[in-house]
Amino acid sequence: MIEQDERDVASKHRVIEPSVLYVGTPVYLVATQNPDGSANLAPASSHFALGRMLVLGLEEGGQSLDNLRRHRELTVNFPAASQWTHVERLAGVTGKNPVPADKAEQYEFEPHKFQRAGLSPEPSELVSVPRVAQAPLQLEARVRRITPGVAGIYGMVEAEVVRVHAAENIAVAGTNHINPDAWHPLIYSYRHFYDRGGEVGWTRKSPLATPPAAVDRWETAGGQWRVVSVDEHSATVELSRCDGGEVAEILTLSSEHEIRWARVQLAIEGG
Ligand SMILES: Cc1cc2nc3c(=O)[nH]c(=O)nc-3n(C[C@H](O)[C@H](O)[C@H](O)COP(=O)(O)O)c2cc1C
Repeated sequence: MIEQDERDVASKHRVIEPSVLYVGTPVYLVATQNPDGSANLAPASSHFALGRMLVLGLEEGGQSLDNLRRHRELTVNFPAASQWTHVERLAGVTGKNPVPADKAEQYEFEPHKFQRAGLSPEPSELVSVPRVAQAPLQLEARVRRITPGVAGIYGMVEAEVVRVHAAENIAVAGTNHINPDAWHPLIYSYRHFYDRGGEVGWTRKSPLATPPAAVDRWETAGGQWRVVSVDEHSATVELSRCDGGEVAEILTLSSEHEIRWARVQLAIEGG
């Protein structure tokens, strides 16, 4: 069925000229320090993260980029999908005074961005710029490099994350992991806001994608395994000897996590 859908889509492309290429990226609120020591706060979505480094795409002429060139500390605050209206309250304002000519029609100057958004500043621990108290995921960071973009319309801010704060309800108790089931970033896609959908799979590197203990033990001992079937209530796994031959044991898995694990394995093998 999926293969059929993919073939249909493949035959139906056409060339378009979309006004933006905002495919769908989590929104963040970047806090920076204004020249008078107050905090600026701006919504953005352009970014990627690798290791402890964050790379943000911030427009030239905005107060946020100006601030970062002068004061090289920031917080990057990820709101939950349910908080989208706070983000939208900042969509028509800039911390830049006077408002740049190319923004004058659509933006007004707002020196009190936290208040305007209906959000509260909360002191950071390692940087002098506040966090957004209500954001479930808050990153304290220091600028390592700012590189002008080729087209002159944005700067690439490479920032090292020095501290991460996660709301209790999105962290896995007793660990340093975010629970992806509990975390609902606000997704910005072609100028519309979305919550994420349900999980469709995971990559094997996920610290939460642990195999059932019996399967893990078998594999560690050099044996092989194969998920045979999965339904709503259980999954069946064959454990076989390392020579690939004889089935030594048939496991029936019934916990929610084990069934989910088995479903992912079957999908990977099938695809
Ligand atoms: C949902 C959303 C996403 C945005 N993404 C970006 C972005 O990735 N980079 C950027 O520079 N501006 C982005 N903007 C626009 C800035 O928020 C806007 O230019 C704002 O005026 C910047 O404020 P500042 O001048 O106080 O820094 C986005 C705005 C919204 C509402």
